Amino acid sequence: MKFDTPAGTNPIDQGKVVGRPTPRIDGPLKTSGRAPYAYERHDVAENAAYGVIVHAGIAKGRLNALHLDEAKAAPGVVTIVTADTAGKLGKGNMNTAKLLGGPEIDHYHQAIALVVAETFEQARAAANLVRADYARGQGKYDLEAALPGAPPVPDPNANDGKGPKIDKVGDFERFFASAPVKLDQKYTTPDQSHAMMEPFATIAAWKGDELTVWTSNQMINWTKGDLAKTLGLPKEKVRLDSPYVGGGFGGKLFLRADAVMAALGARQAGRPVKVTIARPMMANNATHRPATIQRIRIGCDKDGTITAIAHESGSGDLPGGGPETAVSQTKLLYAGAHRMTAMKLAVLDLPEGNAMRAPGEAPGLMALEIAMDEMAEKLGMDPVQFRIKNDTMVDPEKPERKFSQRHLVQCLNDGAQRFGWSRRNAKPAQVRDGRWLVGMGVASGFRNNMNQKSAARVGIDKQGMVTVATDMTDIGTGTYTIVAQTAAEMMGVPIDSVNVLLGDSSFPVSAGSGGQWGGNSSTAGVYAACMKLREAVAQKLGFNATDVTFANGKVTSGNRSADLKDAAGLSAEETMEYGDLAKQYQQSTFAGHFVEVGVDAYTGEIRIRRMLAVCDAGRIINPTSARSQVIGAMTMGVGAALMEELAVDKRFGFFVNHDLATYEVPVHADIPHQEVVFLDYPDDTTSPMKAKGVGELGLCGVGAAIANAIYNATGVRVRDYPITLEKHL
Ligand code: MOS
Repeated sequence: MKFDTPAGTNPIDQGKVVGRPTPRIDGPLKTSGRAPYAYERHDVAENAAYGVIVHAGIAKGRLNALHLDEAKAAPGVVTIVTADTAGKLGKGNMNTAKLLGGPEIDHYHQAIALVVAETFEQARAAANLVRADYARGQGKYDLEAALPGAPPVPDPNANDGKGPKIDKVGDFERFFASAPVKLDQKYTTPDQSHAMMEPFATIAAWKGDELTVWTSNQMINWTKGDLAKTLGLPKEKVRLDSPYVGGGFGGKLFLRADAVMAALGARQAGRPVKVTIARPMMANNATHRPATIQRIRIGCDKDGTITAIAHESGSGDLPGGGPETAVSQTKLLYAGAHRMTAMKLAVLDLPEGNAMRAPGEAPGLMALEIAMDEMAEKLGMDPVQFRIKNDTMVDPEKPERKFSQRHLVQCLNDGAQRFGWSRRNAKPAQVRDGRWLVGMGVASGFRNNMNQKSAARVGIDKQGMVTVATDMTDIGTGTYTIVAQTAAEMMGVPIDSVNVLLGDSSFPVSAGSGGQWGGNSSTAGVYAACMKLREAVAQKLGFNATDVTFANGKVTSGNRSADLKDAAGLSAEETMEYGDLAKQYQQSTFAGHFVEVGVDAYTGEIRIRRMLAVCDAGRIINPTSARSQVIGAMTMGVGAALMEELAVDKRFGFFVNHDLATYEVPVHADIPHQEVVFLDYPDDTTSPMKAKGVGELGLCGVGAAIANAIYNATGVRVRDYPITLEKHL
């Protein structure tokens, strides 16, 4: 089914199930510990041996020798995999660095061996006996030092990365120079780690030349392809199964070392092998969000009209990697006739930089939305009003392209009213509550909506149960539930008559979970399959397909009715594909983020007091799970603003605080009060679901709203994240 004209009225619009707050159907399984995660699949691999990875102790250079004798002689050891025993390996499309290093070492904690033993303890003890001789190379680890010589790179998100290296509209330099009010500031964001709850984990088993991996992954089809490519297998010889995923945040978009090493270990051991990447190895072994150094210039007329806006961002990555696209939102968020955005990419020998929740917009807005606050202050304008004044209903770079819908002004106005913004004192450091300096901050939230082709299979059984199968993943987002809601609405059955099967690569290929495209795209695929199934049901039961209704387990046309279960045995598979509506219309999501903080006047300690997000993200399929997405994202925004930072060892090239004891993230006690409001305007250009992404939107802008609240509380402007207390004392 191709979606190429705006959606008309369709069965989803009934809103009997879709759009209703619905508790997650997988909740009881998860909270009672009965949902098996990858490392716990004892059911599929009873005789599995345990693999423990040996990680490189240098960031760059050569592995001259691996001394394995002691490890091989250790109790319980079955086999040891190294680059020498693994044979020739390919590299996946989505991987920058090799997942098994040697003899070249590309980054710190790269996997260099896998010790397989009868028990986990034996494998870990033997792995500690492996000795490596290295020739340490000269690496580059300092972004600030590397950026001046770094080349400009095109935006990989625009024109398939083939666009200009500097995007320009009008004459920024001239109009910035002549602007009566202007700002020119530098903002920095640090390297960040996904730090999802469930570590990378895989059990691999071979049957002849066929490989099955039970793993934890966001994008089944990408990863299946990359695993096949890495091992030199035809894609159809590889099966992935990932029904439950304990968080990903972009860290599990791609094939990682656990899956490759488990597959190699199982091949060499001749039996299933399970491998996890230990928590302290995740930050340097896997990907992270790269640090940025950003420069923003804004020129305004005295009435607050932006006339010139420029955003430049520099980041680093391993050779062959990409930039953190922190300028994306600045192309689209505010009006302004004269514009410029550019990115620089330095080669760094730190671990691989790649997507982390809302790549681009999340760190980009942390800078842009402080700049907007600073500019409002220079203009003597309220920061809500300054943003509203520069709202635009068209793409500012291509004014002939309209936003499909855009309610940013309503997000800001509703939010201001609900939050009590009128009580804010525009002059900083005026409001006291005992020992606390109190401040309020605002930021706009922005994240693009992307649609991805997605397929599903839907069938009916003798009990009238509807079963949906798709390789879509639920990474803690609520996919099981929205897929069930969609099928229930379409087939006219209660939600507990829908059985949802996810995450298996033998199911139809879905959009997967990434870039906040999963919700709208995967349910649109289910919609397409249900449409096809409805036709098949109507035909089988002798109804006219055009005036048939599906409700309460019955199929009705005119005064004739039949049970849905009379169509038992029927199933349909269909793919939702997209035409160019997303090119005709700019599809984006918007938010107004409001935060109140307290700053201890004596110690500088910062505490969040209240947070509010008003979100404009199309139809909200499930307000319960969407809210959970947004409050989780807001919490991540608190981490980004106040705590999260991978500390770089610039001599040896690794992240020093690579565990959860030292990489700080917020806990419940850091988050006293969060409120989420959805405007819930269906967008008929996105899909028949009329939904959009919502999860990443919840993060975008939060960091700056907190930074702006801290400034309002203290009068000290910090432009370097995280805002730890020594920076504003
Ligand atoms: Mo998201 S960073 O695309 O999982």
